[in-house]
Amino acid sequence: MRRYLYFIEMKKTELIKLLIKHPVSIFKKGIDAQQEKLFIDSLISDYKIDRLPTIDLLELFPGFEETLTTYSFLEGTSLITDIMLLKKLAKSYPECNYLEIGSWRGESIINVSEVSTHCTSVTLPPSEMNTDKRYTDVHGVFSKNAKNLTEILHNSHTFDFNTLDQKFDLIFIDGDHSYKGVLNDTKKTFNLRKDSNSVIVWHDYGVSTETVRHSVLKAILDGIPPENHKYLYHVSNTICAVYIENRNFSCYRTEFPTFPNKKFSVQVKAGKI
Ligand SMILES: C[S@@+](CC[C@H](N)C(=O)[O-])C[C@H]1O[C@@H](n2cnc3c(N)ncnc32)[C@H](O)[C@@H]1O
Repeated sequence: MRRYLYFIEMKKTELIKLLIKHPVSIFKKGIDAQQEKLFIDSLISDYKIDRLPTIDLLELFPGFEETLTTYSFLEGTSLITDIMLLKKLAKSYPECNYLEIGSWRGESIINVSEVSTHCTSVTLPPSEMNTDKRYTDVHGVFSKNAKNLTEILHNSHTFDFNTLDQKFDLIFIDGDHSYKGVLNDTKKTFNLRKDSNSVIVWHDYGVSTETVRHSVLKAILDGIPPENHKYLYHVSNTICAVYIENRNFSCYRTEFPTFPNKKFSVQVKAGKI
């Protein structure tokens, strides 16, 4: 009992110290946690789920093997497995037409462009991104020389996607990750799929490969007709959700901490830009 009280006491003093040191971030974390809780509640009441079924990466791509030519290992990038998932999916089309919302350094799009016929990026213009010049300076750093890339510097909230006058095999949503942002991008791109073989990938469905970002999941479900929800999955070992028709998968529920069912071998080589 004394140990327990001591523990509570420790937590209180630590909390007070933290509140003095970082009042805004603690307050914001509290609000974020509260909002996340509201999204879980609304997911359960509206859709009776708190996560998507997981497809195993090895079921989606048996003998999974892929290489990335460009990876920064810097903050704000996607996971290696996320970009590999995109690249593998792009390769499954003879002439992949790819649409991406949110490109920043151009890391995901440069990797996909290597195996696609054409790529379109709708991404915030540097002027609207962030007032910090260091943030805007790296815009397109990896993708600026790609020949098969059309970059549209526009906010997806105000962009009229009909002006693209195209349909896409593969769509990657990785722009504004707020509920409103993901809802907007999902609604606006759902009918830009070329046909029933087209795939949509949402980044940041997961906070990690094993935990869900419920605001993003709620936006995905709200943005897609209910009869199509059965085609939504999480892909194991990634933080991505996918929309895939015409396939049957034996799915499972991912819950932290999972017991590993596979291991990856990794080889890393770095070179100066
Ligand atoms: C996480 S970064 C994208 C990373 C990139 N897809 C990758 O994996 O390498 C998010 C990008 O979305 C852009 N963005 C944020 N809100 C947006 C919006 N409303 N419309 C278009 N782009 C947006 C940001 O400026 C940034 O370039």
